[in-house]
Amino acid sequence: MSTLEPIAPALLAWFYQNARSLPFRQDPTPYHIWVSEIMLQQTRVAAALEYYERWMKELPTIQDLAECSEEKLHKLWEGLGYYSRVRNLQKAARIVCEQYGGELPADYKKLLELPGIGEYTAGAIGSIAFHLPVPAVDGNVLRVFSRLYNNSGDIMSPKVKKEFTEWVMEHQPPETPGDYNEALMELGALICLPNGEPLCEQCPLAHLCRARAAGKQMELPVKKAAKARRIQTVTVALIRSEAGFLVQQRPKKGLLAGLWQPILFEECLTQPQVQQRLNELGVQVEWDEPLAQAKHVFSHIEWHMFGWHATAKAVPLPKGYTWATPDQLTSEYTLPNAFKAYKIFLQQ
Ligand code: ADE
Repeated sequence: MSTLEPIAPALLAWFYQNARSLPFRQDPTPYHIWVSEIMLQQTRVAAALEYYERWMKELPTIQDLAECSEEKLHKLWEGLGYYSRVRNLQKAARIVCEQYGGELPADYKKLLELPGIGEYTAGAIGSIAFHLPVPAVDGNVLRVFSRLYNNSGDIMSPKVKKEFTEWVMEHQPPETPGDYNEALMELGALICLPNGEPLCEQCPLAHLCRARAAGKQMELPVKKAAKARRIQTVTVALIRSEAGFLVQQRPKKGLLAGLWQPILFEECLTQPQVQQRLNELGVQVEWDEPLAQAKHVFSHIEWHMFGWHATAKAVPLPKGYTWATPDQLTSEYTLPNAFKAYKIFLQQ
């Protein structure tokens, strides 16, 4: 594909005029960029801000992160999902403290060696915080380039991503690699919008955009459909006593590792079958009304949840189970968003 006219001058002029004022842009230390970029992989900028401000108040340095308890860490991440990301942040922080004196290395390859830091995150930290001439190509940037070059390659394919990354680098000004990378992301987030809604009238690169010239901007990018998710029926029991709700900690490995949940079985059970399982735990209940059915979508699996409220007498508890009050379920135990539909009961 022939080279496009330079995009950086118009793009940067637009960015300096229109960039959102964000806390990590005001003070772009490597730690600030790192944490914000990991959060932004989970959620939109508006939602991430609250998490970011709270995080930096609680854990202002990499050393604070390295030393934070697992429960507090989960609590700071509660609702963002993909808890392995926050555990990797801490693993990496510990390595940074042991190997680099508590400061992230200004070296793309060394950043890539840290847990949870892939090409995109290493590129964002490297270019924005250290001004290194490296790419930071996320979904926004892939969309922008698919349209600029009117290219219908599947953006999920590594080969296409590599080709687009080469184009990104052809346009990167060596003096402002971070601003350029962020400007591309910002353009994707504010103007070159997905789902057939680009605001081409406001785009600083509209005059260079080949998809626009060909009237193809609505059809790009091309993204092959992800594999269908497995559907898992989950039977839930919200069991209440004077001591609170009966909750259990999930295993240390696997889906939602180490987080807390109401009593549940990852299979479709009848009420007598649940009763039987509870009897084995020594828990006697009286059944109350059914729970509203709820669905939670993970990356590879979908939980379809149903079940019942129940009342129990406080009982001695097997290991890994506890009675937790609504206050404790708000401030101490992390309940993942999978149980969003039931938090209204558990946390009140
Ligand atoms: N999305 C992820 N990181 C971003 C950033 N630094 N600026 C704008 N959008 C983003």
